[in-house]
Amino acid sequence: DWSPASFVDTTVAELKAQLGNDRVILGLSGGVDSSVCAVLLHRAIGKNLTCIFVDHGMLRKNEFRDVLNDYECLGLNVIGVDASEKFFKELEGVTEPEQKRKIIGKGFIDVFDAEAHKITDARWLAQGTIYPDRIESLNITGKVIKSHHNVGGLPEKMNLRLCEPLQWLFKDEVRRVGRQLGMPEHLITRHPFPGPGLAVRILGDITREKVQVLQEADDIFIRGLREWTTEVDGRQVSLYDQTWQAGVVLLPIKSVGVMGDERTYEKAVALRAVTSQDAMTADWAHLPYEFMAQVSNDIINKVKGINRVCYDISSKPPSTIEWE
Ligand code: XMP
Repeated sequence: DWSPASFVDTTVAELKAQLGNDRVILGLSGGVDSSVCAVLLHRAIGKNLTCIFVDHGMLRKNEFRDVLNDYECLGLNVIGVDASEKFFKELEGVTEPEQKRKIIGKGFIDVFDAEAHKITDARWLAQGTIYPDRIESLNITGKVIKSHHNVGGLPEKMNLRLCEPLQWLFKDEVRRVGRQLGMPEHLITRHPFPGPGLAVRILGDITREKVQVLQEADDIFIRGLREWTTEVDGRQVSLYDQTWQAGVVLLPIKSVGVMGDERTYEKAVALRAVTSQDAMTADWAHLPYEFMAQVSNDIINKVKGINRVCYDISSKPPSTIEWE
């Protein structure tokens, strides 16, 4: 029967046998799957694993720096690529949601490919694909690689073979493997985050300034969720750990407010927090009113350019988790 300990032992032995002294490339996203995949491979082949982490400029506040630091603490060999300039340029003036996704998806592949090609002796491309990804992508596209994990034509172009050591696992098993490998809990329990990042949470066109405003509001909300605990089955659990996913959406409207005795005319944000098992369906999180009041006050008082906070009370379906 399955246990994280026996999975780690068996898989590390298999990877050693399969990969020998070959060099392996892996794209890190900051998410649980690619991170656990990296640590597992690192245990098997050590410095023969090279990881690439691309910053498209749409990550959360300080996320690129913090996650890179986490990876380095884990002993991984990581190349961090700040490609934000390219993405902001290509996204300039683009408002249509699918168009944004396409630009980011393609740009991501270009940056990753260019970086990977510098590792000329690489023989394998590793991916943190898990079982539900394979089911989903097999059904929809007939391809093995889900679009947001996809690294383009790289395997053929560079003649790389695919290595997917988590391909039979479910998310909860991946988390247990991560714990078995001694990874920090904050990496293991991280909420999912969309590949295109904050770009799909800024309605309308994207600018660096808007991203910064959203990062500040998002940071207040997420830190608040981590700090606020309520009792669940006799123990204190953070709202962060009680929710599947949460974030802030920057709306393309302004509304009138009052600050002191001044009239304001500024942007509005929507808070989004959901509970879910698998993201296929989701319910809006019934967060405590006192908590929402505090977050709303914090955002309006501390984030310049925002004077109104709304809470999204739509479930999926018919709404989706992300607004774009
Ligand atoms: P929706 O908005 O469709 O999202 O209810 C379901 C889950 O998928 C995430 N999501 C994405 N993840 N690339 C990703 O890696 C994407 O393009 C993408 N779009 C949505 C979303 O955050 C939620 O967890």
